[in-house]
Order: sequence, then C-alpha cells, then structure tokens
Amino acid sequence: MRPLPTTRVVGVGSFLPKQVLTNADMAKMVNTSHDWIVERTGIHRRHIAAEGETTSDLAAKASIAALAHAGLSSADIDLIVLATATPDRTFPATAAITQHKLGITSGAAFDVHAVCAGFVYAIATADGLMSKGGHKRALVVGAETFSRIVDWSDRGTCVLFGDGAGAIVLEAVEAGSDTKAKPSGILATALHTDGRYTDLLYVDGGPSTTGTIGRLRMTGNLVFKHAVTKISDSILQACARAGVALDEVDWFVPHQANQRILEGVARRLNLAPERIVSTVAEHGNTSAASIPLALDCAIKDGRAKPGDLVVIEAIGGGLSWGAAVFRL
Ligand code: UT7
Repeated sequence: MRPLPTTRVVGVGSFLPKQVLTNADMAKMVNTSHDWIVERTGIHRRHIAAEGETTSDLAAKASIAALAHAGLSSADIDLIVLATATPDRTFPATAAITQHKLGITSGAAFDVHAVCAGFVYAIATADGLMSKGGHKRALVVGAETFSRIVDWSDRGTCVLFGDGAGAIVLEAVEAGSDTKAKPSGILATALHTDGRYTDLLYVDGGPSTTGTIGRLRMTGNLVFKHAVTKISDSILQACARAGVALDEVDWFVPHQANQRILEGVARRLNLAPERIVSTVAEHGNTSAASIPLALDCAIKDGRAKPGDLVVIEAIGGGLSWGAAVFRL
C-alpha cells in the first residue's frame, strides 16, 4: 500500500480591518476603564470591520497574503477549510463565498464551526482530508466579525472581542520525501467538546430558534476556570501523540482570549513566557482568527523559523477545545 502523504505549512497571512477601538473608546460606550481591561485581560485595542466589510472580505484578504507568502496563486488551491462563527450568511458557507472572491472555481470549500477553537478544528480537518491524498494544497482560514454579534451594552463581553482573519497554506507532501532529520509538517492534533457547557458561552439566536442573529452571552469567570485546565490537558495530549516533549517546543501560539489564561497555562505547564506568542493586547479575542493572526506575527517578525516546533491551542463555545503540533 502507498504510504499516506503528510501536510506542512508553506505560507501564512493575516488581515485586520482599519478601524481601531481603544480601551479609552470602550470607556465612552460602557462603564469600564483602560486599567480594568488591561489588568483583567491584557487587551489594549481591537479592530472593527467597516460597514459592509464581511467575514469573507477579511478571509479573502488574509488568504491572498498567505498565498503571496507561500509564493503560490489561487489556481494552486484545491481545498478551503474556513473556521468561523460569524458567517456572511446562514448559507452558503463563507468558504464558498471566499473561494469565489479568490477566483477559484474547483476543489472543495466548506466552513468549520467550533467558535474560538475553530482554527484548531480546521487544521485537523484539512490535514485529515489531505492525508487521504484527495487534495494537494489547502487554505485553512480563521475569519470573524464578532463586532456584529456582541452586545455593545454588555461590558462583561463587548470589551473582549474584535474582528480579523488569518490563513495558512497547507501542502500535501509524499511520505518520506522530506529527508530532513526532523521533517516539517502537522504531527498531531487533539480535539474535544463537552456539550454540557453550551450555556456558558453562546449566541441567543439562530435560524431554527429565534430566526434572528442573536447576541453573544458568556459567563466569563466559569469559562475561564475551564480554559486553563482543558487547554493544558490538550497541549499535553497533542504533544504525547506527536512524540515530543514540552521542552522541545519552540513556540506556543495560543488562542488570544485573555493574557491571564495564557499565563495560567504557562504556570501549569511550566512554560517560559518568552516561548508564548501573545498578540492579545493588539487585537483582543478574534475567535477563530486569533491563532493564525498570532502565528503570522511570529513568523513575519522573524521569531518562528523553518524547522521550529509549534503548538497551537484554543477553547471556546461548546465548550470545544483542542491543540495541534506542527514543525514549520
Ligand atoms: O474565547 C472564548 C473563550 N473565552 C474566554 O476564554 C473568556 C474567559 N473569561 C475571561 O476572560 C474573564 O472571565 C473576563 C475577562 C470575561 C472577566 O474577568 P473576571 O476576572 O472573570 O471578572 P468577573 O466576570 O468575575 O467580574 C468581576 C467584576 C464584576 O463586578 P462585581 O460583580 O464584582 O461588582 C463585573 O461586573 O468585574 C466587573 N466587570 C467589569 N468592570 C469593568 C465585568 N466586566 C467589566 C468591565 N469593566 N469591562
């Protein structure tokens, strides 16, 4: 039997909308302060999509940046897996709309819905499909316009979220063709959901319930408690599956929900803070977009280099959470 291909990251890109809301701006909208937001979350500012600027617009721009970084064009792509909880429309998939904006007319394009854990789910999904040999090059995208679903009168949530998109290009590689001592590629993933916790973080609307979009609701302190333990456990599980020790990992690229969650995981797993990529101050919680946004930052500023071992991790509504390990 022919050995299965593996997949590796060959490009990364991101896009943030122009408009920025600072904590001082937030303090004019709800009863909050810059100091409270920074102390409890680490967030300084977030980007907000312009009127008429959609999730697929952000996704397409991040995808174009990732293709340019990979030295590829749209014509090279035969799979788009797009993670979002804020689709342009109920259907078709935002991936299909993005595919059209990229000028692609073949291959498969679909959305993955695991809210803030969406990018980890999307990378696992694309890797699984490509490993079966069906697709050669994929765009794996996280894109969100959470500004459209937050309740702008709820200070407990509206200060946390922002809009943005990030994308990677994944390429299938024939097994054994990468002759480096430590070959590049996706090594392992670990995905989890526990639907007992749906009420901790949800949107109070939808096509088959209210027929409206609804607004985001979160019991933040309870989500926080689950976050540190569940993220830590999934990092350990993914690393064990990949056969790598925590101290071999060069970069931890977490979902950027809250600086205190990043620090809580670091304490629990005894990770050096310098190995954790944090962009939470700059764009807040962009849900499925936050990991590829942070990864793009670490690669483009020269920290993460070819050959480096990377762990990504996230938790969000569901609750759904997980981690993935790959070598650049
Ligand atoms: O990405 C998906 C996963 N999501 C997360 O991981 C988010 C997890 N949760 C969190 O990050 C934190 O729970 C929050 C940042 C949302 C809140 O921080 P907290 O330390 O858990 O605060 P809390 O919700 O327990 O609230 C403490 C106090 C409350 O006042 P009282 O009842 O003690 O008087 C809140 O009303 O802080 C108050 N508060 C605020 N005060 C000023 C809540 N939001 C604000 C605000 N400004 N924006």
